[in-house]
Amino acid sequence: MTAAYEYETHEYDVVVVGAGGAGLRATLGMAEQGLRTACVTKVFPTRSHTVAAQGGIAASLSNMGPDHWQWHMYDTVKGSDWLGDTDAMEYLAREAPKAVYELEHYGVPFSRTEEGKIYQRPFGGHTTEFGEGPAVQRTCAAADRTGHAILHTLYGQSLKNNAEFYIEYFAIDLIMSDDGQCQGVVCWKLDDGTMHVFNAKMVVLATGGYGRAYFSATSAHTCTGDGGGMVARAGLALQDMEFVQFHPTGIYGSGCLITEGARGEGGYLTNSEGERFMERYAPQYKDLAPRDYVSRSMTMEIREGRGVGAEGDHIHLNLSHLPAEALHERLPGISESAKIFAGVDVTKEPIPVLPTVHYNMGGIPTNYWGEVLNPTADNPTAVVPGLMAVGEAGCASVHGANRLGSNSLIDLVVFGRAAAIRAGKVVDADAPNPVLNQASVDKAFDRFDAVRNASGEIATAELRLEMQKTMQADAAVFRTAKTMAEGVEKMTAIAAKMDDIKVSDRSLIWNSDLMETLELTNLMPSALATIVGAEARKESRGAHAHEDFTERDDENWRVHTVSRVDGNEVELSYRPVIVDPLSTEDEGGISLQKIAPKARTF
Ligand code: FUM
Repeated sequence: MTAAYEYETHEYDVVVVGAGGAGLRATLGMAEQGLRTACVTKVFPTRSHTVAAQGGIAASLSNMGPDHWQWHMYDTVKGSDWLGDTDAMEYLAREAPKAVYELEHYGVPFSRTEEGKIYQRPFGGHTTEFGEGPAVQRTCAAADRTGHAILHTLYGQSLKNNAEFYIEYFAIDLIMSDDGQCQGVVCWKLDDGTMHVFNAKMVVLATGGYGRAYFSATSAHTCTGDGGGMVARAGLALQDMEFVQFHPTGIYGSGCLITEGARGEGGYLTNSEGERFMERYAPQYKDLAPRDYVSRSMTMEIREGRGVGAEGDHIHLNLSHLPAEALHERLPGISESAKIFAGVDVTKEPIPVLPTVHYNMGGIPTNYWGEVLNPTADNPTAVVPGLMAVGEAGCASVHGANRLGSNSLIDLVVFGRAAAIRAGKVVDADAPNPVLNQASVDKAFDRFDAVRNASGEIATAELRLEMQKTMQADAAVFRTAKTMAEGVEKMTAIAAKMDDIKVSDRSLIWNSDLMETLELTNLMPSALATIVGAEARKESRGAHAHEDFTERDDENWRVHTVSRVDGNEVELSYRPVIVDPLSTEDEGGISLQKIAPKARTF
């Protein structure tokens, strides 16, 4: 029997779910073109997780020295360990300067050079001369609060362009037609308990990552993979979920982020012997090697008994040699975080740090216009009509097996913008909205009702913790066949326990018990796809460091993992990586020889 919930129906050309950097950039771009655009978000827009992005946004502006979009593209290809889609990586690097200048014109208060240009700092893995030259200053920064500056600006601009915001609305499920077209989304309004059906010609998922599948993450507690959960329940695919980025410098204990910009400004890591050990692991770029490299090096130091602290289980990040004015001007946010979360005065003492889960390279597969793909053996790039995904929720795939620092903020704005450009072409503002598939609407309410009335034995917080601890232990910086096989077994059992979940509060107004349970139903498929995809991948690539298969295996494994999750079962298949760039060398593009796979050293 169908659960009886009254609801209000809203009609728009476009509904964007999520109001972080990607969601707002998409919303703004849609609204600017006159599309009737709604942005539905479970938190107030300026509290979205982009607000926590610190160090900056990558674009080859050449403000601090020579740079070129082709160098940026090369670094991204190499950073991805040759798993990124080459067309998307070219699009990212080529469009990045335009997207940043647009942000500047919208009003983002970037830090400035003496001449008044946008200030840029070095970040890990960003180099010159196709990886042959010195590190480049490519990361555009607003002190160490770049995400904060971008988010506030985009929200203001979206309002100015008459986008409509539905704030503190929780998206329950997608509305899908019988022939596979997305027609909208069903939502629960958190503050008054009313239910809402959004009918749209295009739904854009901009729901962020699923960092909270892990015990220790820099991600906000709201990063629960809500888009991935909805997509999995719609029978659609997730991609490359095994690639989870550990940021080298989460504060030991709290996991709070200390920006890579700290190393960009001259900070360095030391072990218990006071040694700058990155010189051994990455002789050329040292502390500015990419994150997977640095995180592994730190872990090796700790494993080999050179960790710092009473238990020898972390590493020191040193900033005290930098001038106090530089710390004040360029790194005020992390100076404050170090004080609050580690009790450290950065002008005098090192910060205790540890690799901490930070970013999901995998997500909902899309092309470089943000259109969601439903890969099949016959058509690996088949598009799902009416559905897009952008930002960390999506997988375009520009980050492949490992993302470069500051390529996330640029991914948000380049692909948020691309989705708007594409929607301007494929959404007909004069056409009528789709006739909703009532069975799909009813199914969403039935699921909501079942979760609301769940009367099993296990509390949500208890099961979530079990999942988080398992993921932390078994899908870690280093992985072995044994730990991953155990992880698959444990996670399969944990996911099955969703049937025995207990929700104690049945009310509809500000019911955080219910909301957290719905979030857990979203985290679970992502966590499961991560561990199952990891266990299956018999090689080491980017963030997937397999101790029993230590080499990258391009012949067998230069493929995207496609996972479909149903309950506690995951079905895996694979689709080819797109190796052709958008433009040929004759058209001004990069030479294929330059981006051919090779050993990845720094
Ligand atoms: O270290 C940071 O500021 C983080 C940046 C990023 O993840 O791109």
